[in-house]
Amino acid sequence: MSSGTGLAAVGARQNMLHPHSPAAHTIATLWWVMFAVACVGLAFIAFLLLLGWIRRNREALPFGGGERGATRLVVGLGIATPIVLLSALFVWSDVFVIRSTAAPTRGSTAPTVHVVGHQWFWEIGYGGGRARTDNELHIPVRTKVNVVATTADVIHSLWVPELNRKIDLIPGRASSVLLYADRAGTYLGQCAEFCGLQHAHMELIVVAQPRPQFEQWLHGQASDATAAAGSGFQVFEKDGCANCHQIRGTDARSQVGPDLTHIASRQTLAAGTIPNDRSHMRAWLRDPQDIKPGAKMPQTRLSPNDLHTLVDYLAGLK
Ligand code: CUA
Repeated sequence: MSSGTGLAAVGARQNMLHPHSPAAHTIATLWWVMFAVACVGLAFIAFLLLLGWIRRNREALPFGGGERGATRLVVGLGIATPIVLLSALFVWSDVFVIRSTAAPTRGSTAPTVHVVGHQWFWEIGYGGGRARTDNELHIPVRTKVNVVATTADVIHSLWVPELNRKIDLIPGRASSVLLYADRAGTYLGQCAEFCGLQHAHMELIVVAQPRPQFEQWLHGQASDATAAAGSGFQVFEKDGCANCHQIRGTDARSQVGPDLTHIASRQTLAAGTIPNDRSHMRAWLRDPQDIKPGAKMPQTRLSPNDLHTLVDYLAGLK
């Protein structure tokens, strides 16, 4: 299974040069300015090299001055110019960009979203509410959202390039980042710190939607599972799924793997690895290690009949 199959299905981009928030805009501008300065520097150095080559048989510098002129040139261009330019860029990035992309101050945001990094998925909760929407984070559009993040195991890094800078998720610490989207849409996030075998398949979808839609969605996600816990749930329990996964409203309460209460409402499976439809769900349940080698989800060895029943049940968890 190729990387990004699931995210391609979502049809969203992950491009830090297409900012969709004031913070991401500041970062993109800094990037362009640094790129332009670097280009000018490179062009100037290439010009000097060319000039040296053209005048390789002459002794004097083109602008005169002999040895003294040469010293002045080296000190001016080799030491003074880089110090001035790098200091200016440092002050700009450190004073202005870092400040405008910083964690939100107390009381400046409306909702708070809690994110916990796991090998290899994102656990996502909202305020003190019951909703758990692992690997898919929804926010109201044009609203400042405080994301407070930590990790359950190793260091991860949360990055949604079109919305803000990245923050590291460090054991025993809570880091915070402001998420704000200036228009409704789907934005892609990615774990940006190597965290083990499936680091590259630790993707996050951020959906920004109008406030009423968001409230309605959140209300739905906070509710218990809607599908009847019949034979599908029996397979779920019998084959060990309940040892790791929670389905609210049933006896399955384990918090080891992603919450599956409303799994059918999500756009991807396995943290952005594959699209969420019946055929991919079947392939995933039949052999998760083929799709995501090293994933903590073990081989299940379901009979074809049980597999069918289980897919039916999970696909009903809207
Ligand atoms: Cu989590 Cu890389």
